[in-house]
Amino acid sequence: NRRGTVRDIARAKEHGDRWPMLTAYDALTARVFDDAGIPVLLVGDSAAMVVYGYDSTVPVTVDDLLPLTAAVVRSTRRALVVADLPFGSYQASTEQALASAARFMKEAGAQAVKLEGGHRVVPQVEALVAAGVPVMGHLGLTPQSVNTLGGYRVQGRGEAGARLLAEAKELEHAGAFSIVLECVPADLAAEVTGHLSVPTIGIGAGPGTDAQVLVWQDMAGLSPHVAKFVKTYADLTESLTRAARSYAEEVVAGTFPDEEHSYA
Ligand code: KIV
Ligand code: NA
Repeated sequence: NRRGTVRDIARAKEHGDRWPMLTAYDALTARVFDDAGIPVLLVGDSAAMVVYGYDSTVPVTVDDLLPLTAAVVRSTRRALVVADLPFGSYQASTEQALASAARFMKEAGAQAVKLEGGHRVVPQVEALVAAGVPVMGHLGLTPQSVNTLGGYRVQGRGEAGARLLAEAKELEHAGAFSIVLECVPADLAAEVTGHLSVPTIGIGAGPGTDAQVLVWQDMAGLSPHVAKFVKTYADLTESLTRAARSYAEEVVAGTFPDEEHSYA
């Protein structure tokens, strides 16, 4: 019943075991995923969209994400909880990255952080790892850079593939314990996975990575629009809509609350 650690993640790759990751942002769903046996939960900066209603991850701040991270840590017992460092909280310097990561660990209890980018964040990854902070990398479609990428599109096609592989190796060498590969061709993701001794975590990266991640609201059918790579395993929009409509109808009709749901 102990919490998972980065050593468990390393061992999974040695054994060739695949594993799932989901995002989580609040107590009750984090508890459900923990009890369902999801070994790693990411408090993603995707909270910008699915919690805070922004249309990209750029606006969300450390102060926005800290309470969500704390809630996920408090309500889980087994999952390794990874906190996303949001845009602007680590790019400026190694000192800034350390200060931001320390807040997620001290104030929220996160066990690891994730940050986006390759070559340009190697100093940050090295400094964090040296300070005892496990770091998850993130390559391919890095949503915090949507304004330089020019939209949400597949990355690493053609010649860009070799650069992505080189940056993955740089992140591994810098000490990252795992690397998310988002929206890259399946053959490239498989090639990167074969070249690394740390696990790759795919999202829109085909079946050849060591692990997979999805935003839980996408996976459960709550997000109104999802990318081609998303598979939905439930239809929460439909069931919540039905529940809200039934509740509303019964209140209007005066059939709820009834005797069963009232105190004598
Ligand atoms: O913020 C997020 O949800 C993520 C995952 C999709 C990898 O970064
Ligand atoms: Na993210």
